[in-house]
Amino acid sequence: MTDATRDFLIAPSILSADFARLGEEVDNVLASGADIVHFDVMDNHYVPNLTIGPMVCEALRKHGVTAPIDAHLMVKPVDRLIGDFIDAGATYITFHPEASDHIDRSLQLIRDGGCKSGLVFNPATPLSFLDHVMDKVDMVLLMSVNPGFGGQSFLPGTLNKLRAARQRIDASGYDIRLEIDGGVKVDNIAEIARAGADTFVAGSAVFGAGSEADPHRYDSVMRAFREQLAGVR
Ligand code: DX5
Ligand code: ZN
Repeated sequence: MTDATRDFLIAPSILSADFARLGEEVDNVLASGADIVHFDVMDNHYVPNLTIGPMVCEALRKHGVTAPIDAHLMVKPVDRLIGDFIDAGATYITFHPEASDHIDRSLQLIRDGGCKSGLVFNPATPLSFLDHVMDKVDMVLLMSVNPGFGGQSFLPGTLNKLRAARQRIDASGYDIRLEIDGGVKVDNIAEIARAGADTFVAGSAVFGAGSEADPHRYDSVMRAFREQLAGVR
């Protein structure tokens, strides 16, 4: 697929949403044009932070969220939670290869459960983890910050890694999304897209926008992202 035909998807990370009003926050961001709900799962073990689990994913489905939910598992071990997220209604389930003893098996578990599978690469994790599983991934997620917290700055070295990942995906011929996570803002999303990403996680840039009382507070940042991306096509 070429840059001209690639579709761009925006995946706000609810890590930066107001957890006391989570259903409403997700409704509002989807109404503002978000494509995917990025759902950061942290276990205070694989990463030094503790967030939300499958019960919250299920609660969003019961609340009426029908958009794809992209469960980014920053947990170790991963396999039991994969089952829980399948049951909870996740669409994508991605995990860090360092956190699984059997990467191929974990990927297969995700697909066997009817979900889309993905591997996540920390800034220092080599893309060679993809070598023998290109046929088993639907998503490659590159971290452009070290995982654990929202609001960090984009690591510029990720741009070359994105180009390398884009080449691998295009050469494979498989239909695999290339997602970027960490420090994505209106002023760098175009450069990130040019380097090969097609799916953009943004937490603080989205949920930090506008004034709290305004249900349309996310419209302008989502529009600004789209305008930047339109210039890339
Ligand atoms: C970090 C998470 C990210 C994070 C992104 O470990 O995986 O999804 O929420 O937040 P921003 O966009 O604020 O860097
Ligand atoms: Zn994430």
